[in-house]
Amino acid sequence: MHGSDHGLSRRAFVRSAVAIGGASALAACLQREETEDVPQASLSPDELPERQHAWNDFLATDDHGNVEPPEHHLLLGLEYVGDGPADAEGERERIEAALRTLERAYERGNDGLAFTLGYGPRYVDRFETDLPETVDLPDPEALAPIEDPRLDEYDALVHLASDYGHVTLSAEEALTGELEELNGIAVEDSFDGIFDVADRRTGFIGRGLPAKNQSGVGGIPDSEPVPEDAPLFMGFKSGFRKTQASEDRVTIPDGPFAGGTTIHLSKIQLHLHQWYEQDSRDQRVAKMFSPTHAEEGLVDGAGHNLGDSSGIADIPGSAAEDARNPGTVGHAQKAARAREDGEPIILRRDFDSTDDGRAAVHFLSLQRSIADFVKTRRAMTGRDLTEGSVGSRTNNGILQYISVRNRANYLVPPRGRRALPEPNPT
Ligand code: HEM
Repeated sequence: MHGSDHGLSRRAFVRSAVAIGGASALAACLQREETEDVPQASLSPDELPERQHAWNDFLATDDHGNVEPPEHHLLLGLEYVGDGPADAEGERERIEAALRTLERAYERGNDGLAFTLGYGPRYVDRFETDLPETVDLPDPEALAPIEDPRLDEYDALVHLASDYGHVTLSAEEALTGELEELNGIAVEDSFDGIFDVADRRTGFIGRGLPAKNQSGVGGIPDSEPVPEDAPLFMGFKSGFRKTQASEDRVTIPDGPFAGGTTIHLSKIQLHLHQWYEQDSRDQRVAKMFSPTHAEEGLVDGAGHNLGDSSGIADIPGSAAEDARNPGTVGHAQKAARAREDGEPIILRRDFDSTDDGRAAVHFLSLQRSIADFVKTRRAMTGRDLTEGSVGSRTNNGILQYISVRNRANYLVPPRGRRALPEPNPT
């Protein structure tokens, strides 16, 4: 095989290896991917930004300045099994050494590795003290009347992302104590005996990957309808420069965790039979963006023509007016109602998944406080918009095609406090 065909089948192969995990999947990946190009870090850990989530300056961008997220993603839900954590001095040093190993082994970015480590409410509950008022980290909860998600109770979450599947797998192996050397760097320490991996979720994002991975996947018609140019299963590009919050906007400004952020993570199953088999192209555009986008033909293909913005802030009328006539409201149109000072308040870093053979989205977003996520999600749910033919789910954006299976919230501390932090350090 030649050119992009070869490239795509390699990427699909790597996607399944990442999903399987372990030493043999890693070996297979190393064989399949061009490994000689992965650079060691050019910056020392001390030279990296204090924000764990400062990825954008290190990630690739397209011609319009939109960030191009890494293609492969791995989420590890961790359970604390150490002796502390309230009295965890030695463990803290070990965690920090393990993380610095990743930072030395790979450049931060698509060609290397981008990662964060966050802590859940369950971790905080292990201490006598509580988080300061400057951190908003409630227990996760169901956020819409139509959902009944499992509420994750992991102590911590590692998010690993790279254009190379073998990099995410190698980083996982290093963190779990299975490797002595990582990309030519000696592995200084691991999470072994401190954190166990209790949950493993994987995924991918990028033009062509969903099409290549749709075959035989639950939630997608057998006709394999996902277009080749789509970076996500639902067929459209997401995450334009001007429809994302900036990293500054999602950073905690004050207190001991200043420079940190929060993660909301949900697992959302997709049901795309009606989407692709009964809805017309115009209906899909109207439900994803807005009826105006459909009427005026603003979206070509997956929407790569839109440049650096979906244009959702520039369309006339309002979601409430569209709910009355024509009786459909768009997902982006609804979510944009949560903007503050004209800008979105969450930074989406979500991606698709075929974990367990089912099409899903691991919806991961960063925000200064979980309240900002809840506000945005309520705007997206749009209970106030059920007029005309807009029901609690029908013609109400994409609600009919998704079901939320899991929810979780995490605090992502600044790098200086990322290793087993006390909830209220002085
Ligand atoms: C199946 C899951 C989802 C898919 C496929 C999806 C897809 C999209 C697409 C294609 C857009 C328009 C392009 C863009 O501006 O990025 C968009 C916008 C947006 N979505 Fe989603 N989305 C999903 C779930 C969610 C969830 C759970 C939230 C959280 C509340 C959310 C929040 C937003 C926001 C804030 C915007 C931008 C609105 C603005 O311009 O201000 N999305 N999404």
